[in-house]
Amino acid sequence: MSASNFDSVSFDSASQAQSILQTARSLFYDRALVQLDGQYVGAVAAITSKRQSEAQAQELNYNEIFMRDNVPVMIFLLLEGKSEIVRHFLDTCLKLQSNQFQTLGIFPTSFVESDGGLVADYGQRAIGRVSSVDASLWWPILAHIYVQRTGDRAWASQPNVQRGIQQFLHLILHPWFRDAPTLHVPDGAFMIDRSLDVWGAPLEIQVLLYGALLSAAKLIQLDLSEKGVCGDSAVRLHSPSDAFTQQQIHQFTYALAWVKRLRSYLLKHYWVNIKTVQVLRQRPTEQYGDEITNEYNIQTESIPHWLQYWLGDRGGYLLGNIRTGRPDFRFFMLGNCLGAMFDVISPKQQQALFQLIWHNQSSLIAQMPLRICHPPLEDTDWRHKTGFDRKNLPWCYHNGGHWPCLLWFLGVAILRHQRHHPQVASGHEPWGTSMLQSSYELLLQRLPRQKWAEYFDGPTGLWAGQQTRYYQTWTITGLLLIHHFLKVNPADVDIMNLPTVKELSDIKIFGVPSVPIPGTGWSS
Ligand code: GLC
Repeated sequence: MSASNFDSVSFDSASQAQSILQTARSLFYDRALVQLDGQYVGAVAAITSKRQSEAQAQELNYNEIFMRDNVPVMIFLLLEGKSEIVRHFLDTCLKLQSNQFQTLGIFPTSFVESDGGLVADYGQRAIGRVSSVDASLWWPILAHIYVQRTGDRAWASQPNVQRGIQQFLHLILHPWFRDAPTLHVPDGAFMIDRSLDVWGAPLEIQVLLYGALLSAAKLIQLDLSEKGVCGDSAVRLHSPSDAFTQQQIHQFTYALAWVKRLRSYLLKHYWVNIKTVQVLRQRPTEQYGDEITNEYNIQTESIPHWLQYWLGDRGGYLLGNIRTGRPDFRFFMLGNCLGAMFDVISPKQQQALFQLIWHNQSSLIAQMPLRICHPPLEDTDWRHKTGFDRKNLPWCYHNGGHWPCLLWFLGVAILRHQRHHPQVASGHEPWGTSMLQSSYELLLQRLPRQKWAEYFDGPTGLWAGQQTRYYQTWTITGLLLIHHFLKVNPADVDIMNLPTVKELSDIKIFGVPSVPIPGTGWSS
């Protein structure tokens, strides 16, 4: 059944679509965007409705400017040519980068103006007191996208920007108690910001880490080129003398070595398809030493049988988390879309991923694209792993709910794949533009009628979320973005391009440190 067949209301008038898009634009520009020091700086998470008091909004912090909710906002503003707002947003987050000893270098989850000053949340004010690690990873990615789109290299070379990048990298590239290149985080450290058994090495954090390291390395390289420390061999390079530049070179080299290890690790441990599952099921356990096949001591019984239907014979995806003895086979939509969009997975694997989404569209799209995570935690798992979280009941909210703000990520992933790998994407695949088109139509049909809800509940996503906010900004910008990429200019998906490992590896730097780089098994 195609996604659009689920809804009996037909959607056929172009003028009707235009008027919905116009409503979305007005909501965004007139109600969601807010100013700081007389200039636009970003958007609140949800627009306060006339009936809801400002006090209620504050209590729930939806009146704050969240880093992750502003990712689609900033991409949309760049497409609209409003880059000065994006620069203001990046500069404001940079000013708020933590300078406290224990959290030095992290970027805020959200901020809000209060009594003429800025109040930021690094997790110390959040429900459950969890810090959003994704916010810190998104900042360098957005900074790279801004520079790439506008060509504003002068912004990237400013000392405060380079210092911010240095502090950010310092957070990640340091000794730890483990050797894996993944970032270890507590439960709820990303878009899924409440307990859902997503502690350890959840996929979304790892693919964002991949993007953040590449972006940070590129931003450092821009400054090194400016200083004449790196370039092509034809240029006469000079040796860096100051400690700051030496640290930049060290971090550039280290980040690049890390990113290479991270990609190999994700492909080895996270990628699943019909072949890898069968290999996994037959591996020996209780192995010790270097030359082993089952590093995380995973037992066959922890590989769920529903994977047989889920994968079919052509599907593949990145699983949710790798932990000793407890892999998480749940499918997480955003981590997978980012994995494709950032080219963590190969073009063939991207095709297998889209095939899997198409094959499981009655679960993942159903009446509201897209489901955030599948399958939900139920019964004892729900009780113990979420701590009886009533917002995350099975099929609700993060626990199997449907989030319209996710569709544009899938749109970029598919359209980028078709554009960059036409030889792999045959053009006749059912998951191609037709799946996106019917999903886009579902958003047009349902979002205005359901007041631009934040999320939808139930196995088909037919009901607005039990505790949903209405007039949620990323629901609104999500529709504007998928419309732009699908209908206005598909070539603009390249706005999300990251620097490639190859391009960064080809850069010649004068004075590369000759010391071994800890943890990477790599030295220059
Ligand atoms: C909820 C979501 C989170 C989002 C926030 C503001 O807490 O889980 O991902 O950033 O709302 O919209």
